Amino acid sequence: MSSFKLASELPAWKQLQETYNSIGKDFSVKDAFAKDSSRFSEFSRTFENFDGSKILFDFSKNLVNKEILNQLVQLAKEANVEQLRDEMFAGKHINTTEDRAVYHVALRNRALRKMAVDGKDTAKEVDDVLQHMKEFSNEVRDGKWTGYTGKAITDVVNIGIGGSDLGPVMVTEALKAYSKPNLDVHFVSNIDGTHLAETLKNLNAETTLFLIASKTFTTAETITNANSAKKWFLEQAKDASHIAKHFAALSTNEEEVAKFGIDTKNMFGFENWVGGRYSVWSAIGLSVAIYIGFDNFEQFLKGAEAVDQHFLTTPLENNIPALGGLLSVWYNNFYNAQTHLVVPFDQYLHRFPAYLQQLSMESNGKSVTRANVHANYETGTILFGEPATNAQHSFFQLVHQGTKLIPSDFILAAQSHNPIENNLHQKMLASNFFAQAEALMVGKTTEEVKAEGATGGLVPHKEFSGNRPTTSILAQKITPSTLGALIAYYEHVTFVEGAVWNINSFDQWGVELGKVLAKVIGKELDSEKKVESHDASTRGLINQFKDWSI
Ligand code: F6P
Repeated sequence: MSSFKLASELPAWKQLQETYNSIGKDFSVKDAFAKDSSRFSEFSRTFENFDGSKILFDFSKNLVNKEILNQLVQLAKEANVEQLRDEMFAGKHINTTEDRAVYHVALRNRALRKMAVDGKDTAKEVDDVLQHMKEFSNEVRDGKWTGYTGKAITDVVNIGIGGSDLGPVMVTEALKAYSKPNLDVHFVSNIDGTHLAETLKNLNAETTLFLIASKTFTTAETITNANSAKKWFLEQAKDASHIAKHFAALSTNEEEVAKFGIDTKNMFGFENWVGGRYSVWSAIGLSVAIYIGFDNFEQFLKGAEAVDQHFLTTPLENNIPALGGLLSVWYNNFYNAQTHLVVPFDQYLHRFPAYLQQLSMESNGKSVTRANVHANYETGTILFGEPATNAQHSFFQLVHQGTKLIPSDFILAAQSHNPIENNLHQKMLASNFFAQAEALMVGKTTEEVKAEGATGGLVPHKEFSGNRPTTSILAQKITPSTLGALIAYYEHVTFVEGAVWNINSFDQWGVELGKVLAKVIGKELDSEKKVESHDASTRGLINQFKDWSI
């Protein structure tokens, strides 16, 4: 099993603290480049996908040298990261607080290797669901699956929240270039009635297919939205027997699916060893398969599978997700960086940071270790981001000149799906990708500012400290396989961080308390009486709401 030591008790951690004090805190990336002409090649790694496409991960603009990297690798070894990784791939119950395996990697086991949980192989079961998804998605796309009046489906509405929403939303947006005309997807997640109402406004029940996506099928928002959607549908279709043609369920909970009124023949299942935020590869990805076609969905799975194999078999020194995760630990725990910025220079990837927020923060936002004691160090970073170049014109001021260190990942594909104006837009986009990382690293000195003619009090305002770390991720093109690989990269980065911090990255107890209180307050809002319980602030707010909402 994994180490039960606090990360801070490990010799490599102590060594890294000393290294930070001696060379880390004053480390200059600019000087490191000046001293070492091979730094770029030494600190970048190219991932080759199963289809021959490549992704370059340039770690060379980070605040590390070989010695630091070796110590970080040593930390991973002492923290038993490899052992935990192997246990994950072996289907062991590494999600200890829920006593479950963590086996999303089995969902992209397209080579059909033997991957067993509790002595039972998963390959066949996973493949059967994929075959069901293939048939169903083909029928919907080909217009063979028809609605209650015999018309083809034109709109698919995925109703889910968290992992049952963010993955499908992000991936369908990212791979929009692979969609076909006359078949649109929509996503309803928020309990705010506006989300459902605005989505249904322009839809026709005859040609709309609802996918109710919920691992548990008990999530309040999803079930309420699904019931309201069913009501909307029946107002037009009139007959409950038509539900079978218009509602499918993506879930692990057959009993609740049946209770809701969905024919379990239209249920696409998965197992509880798939965590919600790791579920886009499962039946939860059905909207993706319908939107981009099953063959593309399979490429997406295979791209992730290729990263899995890299992560599983590559020594830590060259293991790309391991390096990404260890750099994050370096900044989080030794530089006290609080955040991690991810900026896709790609409009199609505009929901990627939102997706990564759940992946990273729901996984690693924990303060108790696997040894059931409080960590005495920082864990999960605050992940945020927006696509560039928009981000540059909004919050990059703080990244360049603020008081905080914000380690950043920049992502770009060399080839655009829309090379309009003779690729002018793509070249402008790319020039910003290179320029921002360069500017963050080299900064601008007092002398340079003065040489440009600035004088007096203006000079410090125009200076840039530089030395602000970035990882540049350059893909060839955002294809299904590349996207699969990128997501799997971040999944394993998250894994490595959590393993070093010795926390369970796979439960999410922190979301429970608010859910329970919301249920209690929900009942109180049903009554006309003023509430008398709660703290004075909550009581005051509830009663004001009651006054104003009549
Ligand atoms: O409340 C958090 C959470 O459990 C997430 O982990 C999950 O992705 C989301 O809710 C939705 O859960 P479900 O798929 O069971 O509806």
